[in-house]
Amino acid sequence: MRAYDLIRKKRDGGSLSAEELQYLVWGATGGGIADEQLAAFLMAVFFRGMDAQELKAWLHAMLHSGRVLDLSAIPGRKVDKHSTGGVGDKISLPLAPLVAVCGVRVPMVSGRGLGHTGGTLDKLESIPGFTVDLSIARFAELVNSLGVCLIGQTGEIAPADRKLYALRDATATVESVPLIASSILSKKLAEGIDALVLDVKTGRGAFMKETAQARTLARTMVDLCRAMGRGCVALLTDMDAPLGHAVGNAVEVRESIEVLRGAGPPDVRELTLRLGVEMLIAGDAPGVGDDPLLARMRLETALADGQALKRFAQLIEAQGGDPAVVDDPSKLPQPKIVREVRADRSGLLTTLDAELVGLAAVELGAGRARKEDDVDHAAGLILHKRLGDEVREGDVIAELHAATESRLDAGELRLRSAARIGDAPPQRKPLVLERLA
Ligand code: URA
Repeated sequence: MRAYDLIRKKRDGGSLSAEELQYLVWGATGGGIADEQLAAFLMAVFFRGMDAQELKAWLHAMLHSGRVLDLSAIPGRKVDKHSTGGVGDKISLPLAPLVAVCGVRVPMVSGRGLGHTGGTLDKLESIPGFTVDLSIARFAELVNSLGVCLIGQTGEIAPADRKLYALRDATATVESVPLIASSILSKKLAEGIDALVLDVKTGRGAFMKETAQARTLARTMVDLCRAMGRGCVALLTDMDAPLGHAVGNAVEVRESIEVLRGAGPPDVRELTLRLGVEMLIAGDAPGVGDDPLLARMRLETALADGQALKRFAQLIEAQGGDPAVVDDPSKLPQPKIVREVRADRSGLLTTLDAELVGLAAVELGAGRARKEDDVDHAAGLILHKRLGDEVREGDVIAELHAATESRLDAGELRLRSAARIGDAPPQRKPLVLERLA
């Protein structure tokens, strides 16, 4: 087999066999195929796509390019959630312990923030002492004993994706539905899960800005995950404006603790519950069956009686962190300087562009412009006004947290470009637009 022939076949609209696709993935993992040939193949896929059979074979090869965990010795169904990335999207933090306390095991391998979107690992690492670098053995042990563990992707999981993603990033081939679907699922299915709940974002702050694109991605991932023999449900959710009030790392942990206390911003609580319902049903949670109302009641009880918060504290302690942050969030990193951004006119907050708010958080130091950048766990922002709120001239729109005045200047500039005050109420999308099963 020659990579050249496979590139040409895909370029001309042909369909590749499982053996041919495996040859390419092995070549990517072992270095046997040159980067320029892999990049050319990715560009051919970008334009020609993959049919369902090709996609399944490609994913199978990507998944098996590394270690695939076997958690079958742990009783019960194992279910994870994946979000395609957003701004203020801290849902994994309250959701994982909440679902675990309701009897479904959650092995969660998460990512870091990049560009305008935040990452669960950066948020967790703002808790003093918390480590996401655990061995696979310890990960499995905690999934068994505590019902939940959150770690970062290790070099052993889906190495082909690491290589191919770097090439896609450099060759403008990231935005391809089959390549995105296989990339995400190769990492998620390697966790040894029985089912996956997807939160596919759409809107200004999402990867897929148009609902039709997001729906196509969600449909492709649900069908592909099921073709691989795992359960899968996707919620298509709104990401025009940030979720909740907090955008950053420590500030998002603090907001997550509020949700686990049974309070918190209504949209963060609601999305946590909606995704939780799907996870309990997918995970055959005890006493829930297929009934979304029972699932929701179970989740609401665990938030109200403090069980979910207690599990979060246990999880923090098990992963080396200081569980006292749960009762005293002032133990989280505190900003060096705080600046209030005030409205320069009265009216309604008609736009709060999630992508620009995310970029403001990056300017403040909370995110990364490049993979190699460090994040400042204390940096970020707290929105005092949300989309559609009435604003009077001089009202505080947001509070910015950073380490230097120059970061505050850059963050304020971005935030002002994200927020528009007008007279007509904004068009609001529902939080959950669609459910795809
Ligand atoms: N996230 C991933 O993990 N892979 C993609 O291709 C896009 C987003």
